[in-house]
Amino acid sequence: MAKTIGGVAGESLRKRFGSPLYVYDAAVARKRCSELTRAFAGMRIHYAVKANANPALLKIIRKEGVGAEAVSPGEVLIALHAEFRKQDISFTGPNVTEAELRFVAERAGRVHLDSLTQLETWGKLGLGKSVSLRLNLGIGAGHHKHVRTGGDGSKFGIVPKDLVRVREIADRYGLTITGLQQHIGSHVPDGSDYIEGAVALLKAAKQFNEVTHIDFGGGLGVPYRPDERRQDIAGIGREVRAHIRKFEQEAKRNMTYALEPGRYLIAEAGTLLVSVVDVKQTGAHTFVGVDSGFNHLIRPALYGAYHEIENLSRRGNKRSLTVAGNVCESGDVFAWDRQVALPQVGDILAIRNAGAYGISMASTYNLRPLPREVLIDTGKAKEITFDRNPFLVRV
Ligand code: LLP
Repeated sequence: MAKTIGGVAGESLRKRFGSPLYVYDAAVARKRCSELTRAFAGMRIHYAVKANANPALLKIIRKEGVGAEAVSPGEVLIALHAEFRKQDISFTGPNVTEAELRFVAERAGRVHLDSLTQLETWGKLGLGKSVSLRLNLGIGAGHHKHVRTGGDGSKFGIVPKDLVRVREIADRYGLTITGLQQHIGSHVPDGSDYIEGAVALLKAAKQFNEVTHIDFGGGLGVPYRPDERRQDIAGIGREVRAHIRKFEQEAKRNMTYALEPGRYLIAEAGTLLVSVVDVKQTGAHTFVGVDSGFNHLIRPALYGAYHEIENLSRRGNKRSLTVAGNVCESGDVFAWDRQVALPQVGDILAIRNAGAYGISMASTYNLRPLPREVLIDTGKAKEITFDRNPFLVRV
């Protein structure tokens, strides 16, 4: 296994930028973008900014011809800051206030309305004659129940039984429903769920004669474990496009289509570099203590998510190790009883595939600062840490 991150030695990164550190490999992000643009040719791709909002990464993704999908006023602002054009920014958000809805309607090209209340507010505030709806068609999938967003147990979207009310509200305000969106969940383990969702959405679209845009949401998974296979993205793209062609033969309309991947574009580009600060043997486990924790990468603690951990400082002598963080909670563990080359204090560990939902879900819990962020592009590393405060707007 490589002892580097994006071709740069961990030791030199730590010397220059410190530890813990988020390191991103631009080449990986570009590769994932081009895979998706090829697999879903003819469709628009909107990167889900929530996965990682770093403006340097947003710019790389934008330059690959990808748009942006935002879920808060701050994410819309940061997309504009990264020079996405208004028409290339879409918005979908549950439980937004009237003021937030107005704010995003003025700045994003398309807003997918999540509820009857949002539709009513849209009409009442006169935010535009054409509207798009997020539907919940009962199909949900994802790596954990927290991230399955379709079905009865989900707070998201407008359910089919409410479509009569949708028509009433739309008629009352003279609104035309021109767009439909659905997001069934995140890290959807099986491409067939994604396709099932797409087919259901196309079927629903047949009931809306004026719909000209369909957005299939995000959710494509990436391999986290070494033995996991990459999803057949080209195959999923082919099937979705085949269903689109069938739909168009019947619908006979000029349509546009989109998807909203977050994880797929950025997860594998990111590594959290941490340093070993303690090694402790209890009766049951060997605890390797590191200088980061769930404040910086919460996925293992929150979802039981797997992230590959590699000792960049030495090979061999793999032992069953529990890699624990420095947050004062016993749930602060990156991996239980994982085979990793036994480290000494001072060794560097690489926690892989941390580019999506890593720094974006990080906090300053325990009053520890966020890690700095570094981008590696064509063999050169530069710091891309950014100030979040200007984007944390209250509207
Ligand atoms: N579109 C909408 C409306 C979404 O809510 C999401 C993710 C996406 C697109 C992008 O989904 P992706 O392609 O990244 O799966 N923190 C969790 C993931 C939460 C995803 C929430 N919504 C995790 O670390 O697994």
